[in-house]
Amino acid sequence: MKKIISIALIASIPLMAQVKEKIEVPYIPFPIKMGKGFDSVQANCLMCHSFGYIINQGRQSRTFWSSKVKKMIVHFKAPITEKDAKTITNYLFEHYGNGKEK
Ligand code: HEC
Repeated sequence: MKKIISIALIASIPLMAQVKEKIEVPYIPFPIKMGKGFDSVQANCLMCHSFGYIINQGRQSRTFWSSKVKKMIVHFKAPITEKDAKTITNYLFEHYGNGKEK
């Protein structure tokens, strides 16, 4: 009897998950800005994580971006050349910068 009750309970779980209202999933645009240097970001940053990590920081100063790129190299051992690091910092500051150097 216990077995039957548990089976009936388990079988009815999906029914409880149903809702009458129409569920609308919000559309969130993911604004990745194309431009000079984007290919370096694609080649050097997206191998470990998504672009979300970058976008979620909001608009930031050049120092902020340059230290983030350095952090990736020093702490997470990202294989990024000095030249690419500069290109990426310029790209990040141009598209996700707040206009302030520091
Ligand atoms: C070797 C792997 C690796 C590469 C390559 C890499 N990252 Fe990261 N990144 C990480 C890890 C690991 C974290 C931390 C994740 C966590 O804390 O959950 C992170 C986090 C971040 C964050 C979140 C803020 C913070 O301080 O943790 C930003 C912004 C970021 N990365 C930007 C970049 C940029 C820009 C590049 C390209 C220049 C890059 N990452 C390349 C591994 C990498």
